[in-house]
Amino acid sequence: MGRTKVGLRWTAVRDRGEHESRALPGGEREATAGTRPNGRGLGSPAVPQRLHVPDRYRRGHGRTEEESVESGVVLLGYLAECLGRSSLAGVDLLDVGCGVKLTQAILERDLPIGTYTGIDIAAPIIDHLRGAVEDPRFEFHHLDGYNERYNPGGQPLTTETDLGVGQGRTFDLLSAFSVFTHLEPGDFRVMLQLLRPAARPGGRFLLSLYLDERSAGGHGLMDNFAAAWGDDAVGRTERYRDLKPDKPLQWALYSRAYALELVEGTGWDVVAVGDPRPDIQHTLTLAPC
Ligand SMILES: C[S@@+](CC[C@H](N)C(=O)[O-])C[C@H]1O[C@@H](n2cnc3c(N)ncnc32)[C@H](O)[C@@H]1O
Repeated sequence: MGRTKVGLRWTAVRDRGEHESRALPGGEREATAGTRPNGRGLGSPAVPQRLHVPDRYRRGHGRTEEESVESGVVLLGYLAECLGRSSLAGVDLLDVGCGVKLTQAILERDLPIGTYTGIDIAAPIIDHLRGAVEDPRFEFHHLDGYNERYNPGGQPLTTETDLGVGQGRTFDLLSAFSVFTHLEPGDFRVMLQLLRPAARPGGRFLLSLYLDERSAGGHGLMDNFAAAWGDDAVGRTERYRDLKPDKPLQWALYSRAYALELVEGTGWDVVAVGDPRPDIQHTLTLAPC
């Protein structure tokens, strides 16, 4: 699987596979900087772990491995911000649909974290991370949930589905970056219900999603579509639509009203709806109620 362990040199081997690295109108690849990781820790004297991840496992559309790390750093900053903190030191994070990005950013940049628990429906990614990451703060779990795009052979998600992180286990913070962007409404709601028991009182859940709106900053999916096809392309979603049915769930697009309606009764309160920013689409910040 081409993994690289602690202390080995950073490599940017291009491993072309299922990963599509060009910028999509969906704007999921929004990383900008491309600096080489400098290996300098933010407070930890430990040598940062060099975690090479083949391109086929990087699904956040980072153009290169370095850009993916940069994007991960940005997203971790957004997570700290949503807790009103400057870092994730001491924070127990559950990252849903984890992919590899946050793990790689934390390890490459030696960023502070209490514990990191990643779950994903893609078994090869979880297998890769389990084999490559030795840091005891990290654990990875495979959830064999059905998703037409990412795991068509999986089991339908229900409110009884076992997340696999351990009965009664709770976290300070939950994240789902570029995951609800690929969920149809039924799974959108089930995932919120499934994840609710994992939140500690006072905790937060930050997720990104596609809303059928233009935004002031111009970083969103529909900003890109409007630029390409005009304003008429925007605001035509009454509730939900799969924007590109020939590539199912590439762009699961919601009206704001319907997305908020889907949250109702799931045990979460909406704290904020965030505009698209660099490296992220619209966001919902949720708190357990
Ligand atoms: C576009 S990738 C984003 C990965 C990562 N969060 C990032 O930002 O780089 C979407 C990921 O979500 C996973 N996924 C999709 N539906 C899921 C679900 N219901 N539960 C857990 N993971 C899911 C996919 O397997 C895939 O790895």
